[in-house]
Amino acid sequence: MKRIYLDHSATTPLDPLVLEAMVPYFQGIFGNASSVHSFGREARAVLEESRERIARVIGARNDEVFFTSGGTEADNYAVKGIARSGARRGRNRIIVSAIEHHAVIHAAESLRAEGIQVEILSVDQYGMVDPEELRSKLSDQTALVSVMHANNEIGTIQPLREVVEVTKSVGAVVHSDTVQTAGKLPLRFREMGVDLLALSAHKFYGPKGIGAIVIRKGTLIDPLIVGGSQESNRRAGTESVALAVGFATALELSQNVMDQESHRMGELRGKLTRDLLSSFPGLLINGHPQQVLAHILSISFDSVTYPLDGDALIMGMDLRGVAVTSGSACTSGSLQPSHVLRAMGRDEKTAKSTIRFSLGRGTTEEDINYAASALKEVVNMVNSRS
Ligand SMILES: Cc1ncc(COP(=O)(O)O)c(C=O)c1O
Repeated sequence: MKRIYLDHSATTPLDPLVLEAMVPYFQGIFGNASSVHSFGREARAVLEESRERIARVIGARNDEVFFTSGGTEADNYAVKGIARSGARRGRNRIIVSAIEHHAVIHAAESLRAEGIQVEILSVDQYGMVDPEELRSKLSDQTALVSVMHANNEIGTIQPLREVVEVTKSVGAVVHSDTVQTAGKLPLRFREMGVDLLALSAHKFYGPKGIGAIVIRKGTLIDPLIVGGSQESNRRAGTESVALAVGFATALELSQNVMDQESHRMGELRGKLTRDLLSSFPGLLINGHPQQVLAHILSISFDSVTYPLDGDALIMGMDLRGVAVTSGSACTSGSLQPSHVLRAMGRDEKTAKSTIRFSLGRGTTEEDINYAASALKEVVNMVNSRS
């Protein structure tokens, strides 16, 4: 059976060039980058070179990039580290948007037990935050505002520039989860004005198990993982040189093809949207009509017009070889409707009848046509059963 992968927002396959670049560091070059002998120095040099390559792509200083185990750790570090450090200086409030990844939302919620007040910034029907609502929530007790660059379920790109401008008026820190935008949108740390951003290599054809937190020089933040003095005392634990090389290589390669790929994916997304709208009158397209990532298309079947079981849709697509999801990989299978779709005002049933297509470098027009016709079959089948 034909197998078509349309879940690139969950993860991407490793680029063969990335694998090739990593291999030497799984074999001969194995030293611990903290060791002072020649094996260690050799590993350290490669680790620092990887950091520099990443910093160059995103427009940060080398000493602002810290390796983590991935996006989840980077988000946890940003939220908990800033909130705890802020609380000691009388800033015990944080604000996170309602459509943040659970790595941010759950990290924020866990802080309530420490006496930190967490406020949720709502979104409109397109999943977009309103900087004026943010302004009304900010005070001189706010330590942190966390608003993601673009959402992983619906692709909406947030008005970060305004978020930064408004937040800076009270001297609070801005964290942005850029896990879905690295390699997809131009990321320039300094120009964006944010204080922290989170990256994850496996979202742009790099290896799983490595990411980074980028922290503006001078930002006061408590460490999350303590132990040795690695990563300039910011994040303890022996670094993986091989993964760092993979991360840097994948980011550079993604940067090189970014314009061409986002144009190509925009065209495919447009075609898929038109095909689906003509097959399913009244189909709901989730996310902002213009401010949206080119590779994510989230659709919902309105529960009144199409009383369908969402899980049956995903399973039916899988049986036809098409890998899609109802939302985030982290929440699928959890029976809970997506918090993102609920925050946008979708009712619970409609939120559950959602499919997210996320396209990637290997996606072709033929794949899109196949997926669209598979969905027609699946909807007919699920409809006739219910
Ligand atoms: C927006 C966003 N943030 C954070 C994460 C978590 O990243 P990781 O899988 O590297 O822990 C993901 C992954 O799904 C994501 O999409």
